[in-house]
Amino acid sequence: ASKTAEHDVLVIGGGPGGYVAAIKAAQLGLNTACVEMRGRLGGTCLNVGCIPSKSLLNNSMRYHDVLHDSKKRGVIVGNVELDLAQMMKAKDESVDQLTGGIEMLFKKNKVTYYKGKGSFIDEHQVQIDAIEGGEDTIVNAKNIIIATGSEPTPFPGIEVDEKRIVSSTGAIALPEVPKRLAIIGGGIIGLEMASVWSRLGSEVTILEFLPAIGGAGMDSEVSKTIQKLLQKQGLKFKTGTKVLGAKVDGEEVHIDLENAKSGKQETIVADTLLVAVGRRPYTEGLGLEKIGIELDERKRVVMDNEYRTKFPHIRVIGDCTFGPMLAHKAEEEGIAAAEYIKLGHGHVNYGVIPSVMYTHPEVAWVGQSEQQVKESGKAYNVGKFPYLANSRAKTNLDTDGFVKFITDKETDRILGCHIIGANAGEAIAEAALALEYGASAEDVARTCHAHPTLSEAVKEAALSAYDKPINF
Ligand code: FAD
Ligand code: NAI
Repeated sequence: ASKTAEHDVLVIGGGPGGYVAAIKAAQLGLNTACVEMRGRLGGTCLNVGCIPSKSLLNNSMRYHDVLHDSKKRGVIVGNVELDLAQMMKAKDESVDQLTGGIEMLFKKNKVTYYKGKGSFIDEHQVQIDAIEGGEDTIVNAKNIIIATGSEPTPFPGIEVDEKRIVSSTGAIALPEVPKRLAIIGGGIIGLEMASVWSRLGSEVTILEFLPAIGGAGMDSEVSKTIQKLLQKQGLKFKTGTKVLGAKVDGEEVHIDLENAKSGKQETIVADTLLVAVGRRPYTEGLGLEKIGIELDERKRVVMDNEYRTKFPHIRVIGDCTFGPMLAHKAEEEGIAAAEYIKLGHGHVNYGVIPSVMYTHPEVAWVGQSEQQVKESGKAYNVGKFPYLANSRAKTNLDTDGFVKFITDKETDRILGCHIIGANAGEAIAEAALALEYGASAEDVARTCHAHPTLSEAVKEAALSAYDKPINF
């Protein structure tokens, strides 16, 4: 028999969407609980996504720089070695600290944390099947927020064993550096993981069906530029390539390919194959069918513009519903959903959700791409400034990339900003703020930026959009 409990709000899923929604709801004075079946809070992002991948990206970059980039800076090093086990340990420590930190935040904000799997009994009751020796519970909740996230999209016919053929979860935990790593999908996961393992010594080949890399939303000038830069770093790209199948053969993986244009077929051999062709919503075992909550053709939970499913007291946020699958988007929705429950209003500006790819250089963008503005028929200006002309980038010996603003030709209002550069992920925050406030390029260019900083490239690109740059 299960014990029973009552809450104003039950959040199902403890990822960036769910845990943030739970904390916000509790801060708003609601009696709130969150159920998570993973054993740890933080969801995909903290456990097997954003955080472990960024740890590996940072530390692999340091290793690579010490090995290949020190001499010209006047730093002579000898005997550089990779301790992959320690690199993985450093990653695990970051994950442990951050996931543990959320548990502390739950305590601080008085959020009840159920460790277990939640499934609907009816539209107000959720059965919690406890894990780790906990007690099964039936929760009766006035409001329910579904935040069950996503999982890797399988590739038909290719079986992921997380050893030779891995998803991103296996790719952030390989026990040794594969000599040859093949990756299906030149999207964000593919390119970030390609960067990690190539820096650590793998020969990496990326197999992408489309003619361009970067996944959806990346400005095509940016996509072309980053492809060239990554090629210079040794990554091999096979774009316009259809993967027909892949099989493990002893210690190797054999991958059959077809050129999408010519139809020419070939087989390549790798030691490890990463499948990274996107993610799909995860709602397995939740019992949505039992209460008749609808999924669309891509398995996303259907909702209205206040995150309500067909039951007004059951809302849905994050990767398992519409919109970009990003942690910060899920978090914004978590806050808004909690505010809708308590206050009746909430807000997420879907026009201003930044995207960042943490390769080197980083790629970041917010707002519309040049193609999108062109298609809208609006007259526009482009202001661009290369890091090559930025004094800080020069002193850092790190001058690849540019900042590009797209502005309304008539009003000078910023429509989009696209950055390739060492700190693009940080720099894009300024453009996001500008867009959120409806700023013009002139507003940004007339804001005093400290010298010498990389941020001056943002200022100069804005200046270039309506006038002339000074330093280029
Ligand atoms: P999730 O984080 O997936 O959390 C959902 C949680 O719900 C899971 O922990 C799951 O166990 C739990 N759950 C599911 N069903 C139930 C149930 N029935 N009962 C109880 N619990 C349940 N995004 C970024 O913005 N920046 C990045 O740098 C970035 N890097 C990434 C790198 C990788 C390798 C991957 C795979 C993803 C990355 N993402 C990144 C995407 C990001 O992880 C997701 O967008 C984000 O985690 C979505 O948050 P969410 O709360 O919607 O879902
Ligand atoms: P993605 O959608 O970014 O890229 C998938 C790529 O695979 C696309 O380029 C697509 O054209 C290609 N593809 C699809 N089917 C294919 C096939 N059959 N053969 C060859 N190529 C094929 O998805 P990805 O990289 O798996 O990442 C999933 C999600 O995780 C992303 O959408 C992103 O939202 C999130 N993420 C975000 C990160 C960040 O913000 N830095 C980092 C990693 C993941």
